[in-house]
Amino acid sequence: MSILFDPMKTENMDLKNRFVRSATYDGCADRDGHVTEYQLKLFADLAEGGVGLIITGITHVHSSGQSLLFQNSVATDDVIPGFRRLTAAVHDRGAKIALQLFHGGRESAKFFANKDFQAITPSVLPDDPYFDGESRQMNEDEIWEIIDAYGDAAKRAKKAGFDAVQLHGAHGYLPSQFLSPYTNRREDQWGGVLQNRLRFHQEIYKNIKAKAGKDYPVLIKIGVQDGFPGGLESKEGKVAAKLLAQWGYEALEISLGLRGRSYKETEFRTNVNHLDQEAYYRHWCKAIKSEVDVPTMIVGGLRTYDLMEEVIQKGEADFISLCRPFIREPDIVNQWEKGNRHRATCISCNKCLEALREDGRLECVQAKMDKSS
Ligand SMILES: Cc1cc2nc3c(=O)[nH]c(=O)nc-3n(C[C@H](O)[C@H](O)[C@H](O)COP(=O)(O)O)c2cc1C
Repeated sequence: MSILFDPMKTENMDLKNRFVRSATYDGCADRDGHVTEYQLKLFADLAEGGVGLIITGITHVHSSGQSLLFQNSVATDDVIPGFRRLTAAVHDRGAKIALQLFHGGRESAKFFANKDFQAITPSVLPDDPYFDGESRQMNEDEIWEIIDAYGDAAKRAKKAGFDAVQLHGAHGYLPSQFLSPYTNRREDQWGGVLQNRLRFHQEIYKNIKAKAGKDYPVLIKIGVQDGFPGGLESKEGKVAAKLLAQWGYEALEISLGLRGRSYKETEFRTNVNHLDQEAYYRHWCKAIKSEVDVPTMIVGGLRTYDLMEEVIQKGEADFISLCRPFIREPDIVNQWEKGNRHRATCISCNKCLEALREDGRLECVQAKMDKSS
């Protein structure tokens, strides 16, 4: 049997294989952020399809952090019953599930445009080519309020039956905005040297553990380099990853920080057509894996089974995290387990993403077009 089907333990969580469904926004919550029937089916299909751990899509921990209309919320207790049904549907089918804790920071500006609220962020930059929209600088009290909201959210997640939470610390959202020297120009205890720019992540971790218990697994998706020059550099990002592991984050998923303008400068690259275009963050993951004592998850353009096997066999990562392949083939892990080790049929066109940005629901648009032609 392939190493990809060996079970693996993080400190407090047993997983049946090495496959993770990387967090994926699905545009299927209701307007109040509750779980819907459509999501129950989506997650049941994924669990049925053989993946070991499913990470939900972005779920805002505080109303100021919402960034899309049909996004799940974990900011209030009324969402717990819906999430209980979701976690039960996944557990009944033998998989585990983690809730992705999210705050958009300045990336919520579009959502709040023409509303009675301004998006919040560590620092406001004049003339920033990487950001359109209005935002304002967070004050000390607001920072603590949001940290508290992460802890409360994790407590709700535990109550709802989630096996773990994952802090979304990548892709230019609020924790990423604190970590990057490009977006964080503060001169107080939250800005300046790396330890200060990571204080937000450290306090969130402590707050969660105090509220959800010391054995409740807290994972992180961490952006270790920004997508454009002048931002966070991988040299510092790697030190950040090491510190997060030392503080107790139980598994690290290695990804991009702030996004640039083109797909090439984002975490969801297009044209992943050849082996040498796959696993585009392999070098970061490998370097970090060799320096931390906690499991790492490699994400970003993995499509070929043999390559995934090689990465795990060589000890460059512990888990294979996939997003777009599961949109097209939710049962791909079962197919691979049965011996059909085809390359994932996802062509990384990002039509799924573009549809979601227009308030559509998660689906493989390309597969639908192929079927109808
Ligand atoms: C439609 C879509 C939705 C996504 N939603 C999220 C999300 O909610 N949270 C997150 O951390 N990453 C999100 N991502 C990024 C993926 O988790 C992943 O990091 C990226 O797509 C690269 O992996 P892949 O090549 O396997 O798709 C999303 C990507 C896509 C295409």
